[in-house]
Amino acid sequence: MEQLKIIGGGGTTRLNGSIRIGGAKNAALPIMCATLLTGDAVQLRNVPSLRDINTTSKLLRELGVSVSELEHDKVTIQAYGTISTKATYDLVKTMRASILVLGPLLARFGEAWVSLPGGCAIGARPVDQHIKGLQAMGAEITIEHGYIHAKAPAGGRLIGAHIVTEMITVTGTENLLMAATLASGTTIIENAACEPEVTDLAKMLISMGAKIEGLGTSRLVIEGVEQLHGTTHTVVSDRIEAGTFLCAVAATGGDVTLTHVDPTIMGAVLDKLREMGLQMELTDTTIRAVMTGQPKPVSFKTTEYPGFPTDMQAQFMAVNAVASGASRVTETIFENRFMHVQEMNRLGASIVVDGNTASTEGVLPETLSGAMVMATDLRASASLVILGMVAGGTTIVDRIYHLDRGYQRMEEKLTAVGATITRVQGLSEDEVL
Ligand code: EPU
Repeated sequence: MEQLKIIGGGGTTRLNGSIRIGGAKNAALPIMCATLLTGDAVQLRNVPSLRDINTTSKLLRELGVSVSELEHDKVTIQAYGTISTKATYDLVKTMRASILVLGPLLARFGEAWVSLPGGCAIGARPVDQHIKGLQAMGAEITIEHGYIHAKAPAGGRLIGAHIVTEMITVTGTENLLMAATLASGTTIIENAACEPEVTDLAKMLISMGAKIEGLGTSRLVIEGVEQLHGTTHTVVSDRIEAGTFLCAVAATGGDVTLTHVDPTIMGAVLDKLREMGLQMELTDTTIRAVMTGQPKPVSFKTTEYPGFPTDMQAQFMAVNAVASGASRVTETIFENRFMHVQEMNRLGASIVVDGNTASTEGVLPETLSGAMVMATDLRASASLVILGMVAGGTTIVDRIYHLDRGYQRMEEKLTAVGATITRVQGLSEDEVL
């Protein structure tokens, strides 16, 4: 199994240089699935090269869709000819976002079989809201042999409906939005997720001929059309990747410029980084971040956009671990997203979890020492890489397949700005001690 070997500076590592930020994973995934809504070719740009993107390409190909190789961040996808409507367990179990084919398949072909995603490390993550919304649009849905079997009403077309989701769900909103584009009549989705990735999907759908109003708000109004057409779309910049590198600078110190970013969609994260003492200069597409001295601790609660994102919680906790005081972080989106805490404590952090709140007593960076730690999910992995750069000596982050799901060559990007990180395989604890 691949690992990252990080030689940390015990508080002396500084990052200097520039890092190019890629397209957003969580926008690219639904957008790739949205190509199922037309038989025309769709060209996507700024698509990051990630494990989850490969899995989505594989899933689409398994359905009979033509997906070109990803080259220079571009991919061309065409769902033309015979398309299967069954997304099998083999792929869905490896990536929960596979559920995003449900809405488009049902809307265009009148039927879909999508395996129920299995358990997930960060929480139960049911898909009941996806199902209820589609049922409101007239779909008949049964669970058979571990699959969601969805059928459109007689005539094969979903019917516009007024849907109020019981909680804010990102992929739930995306599934219903995609389904509604081809339904007959008007669909209103209330309590819709406002995440920039949902807005990017809506923009892409509009460029395919969909009629959507209320972009970026919690009330999306979709006037169904008979068919959609091909398009070219550039995926929005990855605000979580950008935020992760800013946390790395806040924790280690240094002077790093991020390019190809969109600071306008990073408000809550940038505010908290400033509170930590990170100095930033913004342009439309760049962020220059300068950090000197020990970071200040910040407390926050994760909430839906435009609040503080759960996908940045672990990385901020890594900075809090070496901050000049105490902080409290409350996780409200997922019930089990503190698995990085035990691993951070192995590096010398002082964090205590009580229910959905983690209290951190910041320690001096030079008191942390490298250890063998295990990545448990995508963002947890990133937080361990950050803390590994601060801790003195060798840290080995095991199970980095989690990291590769959402970060493109993270170790190369960090090495280019001064970190010492290599990708290794099968190292044991002897390397650390
Ligand atoms: N929920 C339900 N029922 C549903 C849907 C959601 O109870 O039908 C609950 C979930 O269990 C969770 C909450 O609602 O407690 C929010 O879940 P949401 O559906 O918004 O999450 P998601 O769509 O499955 C996306 C991102 C996640 C990100 C969350 C929250 C994608 C592919 N994934 O997941 O990204 O954490 O929204 O912002 O867009 C990551 O990139 O590391 C990641 C986990």
